[in-house]
Amino acid sequence: MQLLDGKAVAVKKRQEIAENVEEFIQSQQRAPGLAVVLVGEDPASAVYVRNKIKACEQVGVLSFEHRLPERTSLKELQTLITRLNQDDQVDGILVQLPLPKRLNEHDVLSWIDPQKDPDGLTTENLGLMLSGRARIYSCTPNGVMEILKHYDISIEGKLAVVVGRSNIVGKPMALLLQHANATVTVCHSRTPDISLHTKQADLVVVAAGKKALLGKKDFKQGAVVVDVGMHREVVDGKTKLCGDVRFEELDGWVSAATPVPGGVGPMTITMLLHNTLQLAKQRLEVG
Ligand code: GUN
Repeated sequence: MQLLDGKAVAVKKRQEIAENVEEFIQSQQRAPGLAVVLVGEDPASAVYVRNKIKACEQVGVLSFEHRLPERTSLKELQTLITRLNQDDQVDGILVQLPLPKRLNEHDVLSWIDPQKDPDGLTTENLGLMLSGRARIYSCTPNGVMEILKHYDISIEGKLAVVVGRSNIVGKPMALLLQHANATVTVCHSRTPDISLHTKQADLVVVAAGKKALLGKKDFKQGAVVVDVGMHREVVDGKTKLCGDVRFEELDGWVSAATPVPGGVGPMTITMLLHNTLQLAKQRLEVG
């Protein structure tokens, strides 16, 4: 089984991004900027946000961190997002999800200027993606495509199954695979027998958000397995990360798979940096 080393692909891609950021700085006399907004105290979100800020520093993107208390009102959040929309130093605005339940995610995302939406979560950017005219592609699905490209895994004509239908991963993943000429099936929490579908697939992307959901018996021999899951578990007092797939069962059966950690995760952040730079360049053209 070939290990699809997302961390190694991310290192290479981040070098390219750093060079392009440097060119941007030379021509514009300023760095691209990413604002990261975190509401509340969710510890997993705090880790993600810290990693995003660190990654910005690595490639020369300016980051603006906004940590707001759990009790933040919709109005306060709207005021902040409006200010960031108008701030010329800010090319991307990322509101870390999930938001506290009180705050309607759809409302909050609708305030982000689509020209500054590096997650591709505004309805305008989702629509542009759907119609094949994307401004940017969602970070995780785009990162998965980069990993497959790096390892020369062909997609055209293949049977692909995406497990999960979120706006942030499942739906745009299915779209990108269709754009690459795969025949795509989408499974989700109400699919009676997910295994029935995944067992036929040449390529399975698992973004179900359920720890250890799938294992060897769910995949065809020689399939390619991409695991988008990210779960924390405590083993012998130590916190470990694991995915939606029981990775340890796969060797000797599937042809290639991404591990967790070190698979898709590092590529999600890498494509966030990529998208922020793309948005900065696109705003120059629009003026
Ligand atoms: N929460 C988990 N992953 C993500 C992501 O990629 N973007 C945002 N905004 N929130 C997330």
